[in-house]
Amino acid sequence: MGATWTFHSAGQIVFGPGAIGQLGEVATRLGIRSAQLISDKILDKAGIVEKARLPLRQAGIEVLVDLGGEPEPTWAAAMACLGKARERKPDAIIGLGGGSNMDLAKLTAKCLTHGGEPGDYTGDDRLPGPIMPLICIPTTAGTGSEVSCADVYTDHRQGIKLGSISNYLRPKVALIDPLLTHSCPPKVTADSGIDALVHAIEAYTAVDNERFPLPPGQKSCYQGRHPMGVAMATQAITLAGRFLERAVANGSDAEAREGMALAAMYGGLAFSNVGVALVHALEYAVASFVHVSHGAGNGLLLPHVMRFNLPGREKEMAEIGGLLGLGAKGPEESIDAVAGLSRRIGIPPRLRDLGVTDSMLPAMAEKTLAMTRILRVNPRQPSHDDLMAILRAAY
Ligand SMILES: NC(=O)c1ccc[n+]([C@@H]2O[C@H](COP(=O)([O-])OP(=O)(O)OC[C@H]3O[C@@H](n4cnc5c(N)ncnc54)[C@H](O)[C@@H]3O)[C@@H](O)[C@H]2O)c1
Ligand SMILES: [Zn+2]
Repeated sequence: MGATWTFHSAGQIVFGPGAIGQLGEVATRLGIRSAQLISDKILDKAGIVEKARLPLRQAGIEVLVDLGGEPEPTWAAAMACLGKARERKPDAIIGLGGGSNMDLAKLTAKCLTHGGEPGDYTGDDRLPGPIMPLICIPTTAGTGSEVSCADVYTDHRQGIKLGSISNYLRPKVALIDPLLTHSCPPKVTADSGIDALVHAIEAYTAVDNERFPLPPGQKSCYQGRHPMGVAMATQAITLAGRFLERAVANGSDAEAREGMALAAMYGGLAFSNVGVALVHALEYAVASFVHVSHGAGNGLLLPHVMRFNLPGREKEMAEIGGLLGLGAKGPEESIDAVAGLSRRIGIPPRLRDLGVTDSMLPAMAEKTLAMTRILRVNPRQPSHDDLMAILRAAY
């Protein structure tokens, strides 16, 4: 008999081209009278901030716009958003943007509700209770933060990327309008899109739920591979195989954009219940040394980690090839298909292309090894030597 598992999502998912027009109605239903809308200058210029502000205003909701979002947000950016929110005391937070802005919205909402600063909640299940109403509206298709239990920022003072996970962090509403992603430039489309695939593959190949090694007394949103996680990951892999290259090649391909918006959502639902694993642990370590987009780092590392995880997961790796629909037949071919896809959409092929130097590798392996909460999701436990071999192969 299998173990007990659970499945969590955003409180409500509103999905569809033009769905942004319903934001006023959605917010009114939650009883929101004033909201802090966290976004950034690029999205303001692209006219996307106005698309969110208008329906809120029409519903009589006071909107406090904060354009302090930045890619891969730092602790300082999070503190600046939080400072503004503490001054303005809105009754809801809305995150509009890629994973970076949505994560800033999560960091702000949790600290505004429970006090303190982002660092107080680092790790697994540290939030003491529900947070204030939070709506997340993705403008990239990739991170799945709109439905996930996670937020991430870089503590530039310590030079490390820190995350927190808690089911209380899931937005009340994920409002997903694929039309908002049409203006994503090819690099952002590729980097965020491959992240969705990484989420799905890490969930699809994760350690089984029955064997998930959670020490007694510890809690986690991550539970290992379970049927709902597999169902979500299957959808995400299929959609990414079909639509990622198309979305990168032609940003106005509405069918591809919609497919990728779904892939990101499914990927988010998969990883935030099953867990992310060694690709993410390595990426956090790499990003502590060089500035790289989360998706590009993940995409680069993915085939190398798949190769390491192959023993014991041959069947799943072969299935991934089938789901991608790129003509792969066996497990090895699947990994090559993923590497080929990554190359074709312009993910840098080697760590040295990101500015990584040989001398950084041992410390990267060290940092990765310390991420036990993520590593325990991985189907195979790496030693320091294993990590060095993976990093050298990727270098
Ligand atoms: N919380 C989670 O569950 C989770 C999961 C995965 C990744 N992340 C985090 O998300 C971040 C990466 O997010 P991302 O890949 O979505 O990119 P991003 O949010 O960093 O955005 C990248 C750039 O693209 C621009 N952009 C976004 N949407 C656009 C649009 N529609 N048109 C034009 N420009 C647009 C942004 O202004 C920004 O400059 C990382 O910090 C990563 O750690 C979080
Ligand atoms: Zn990710």
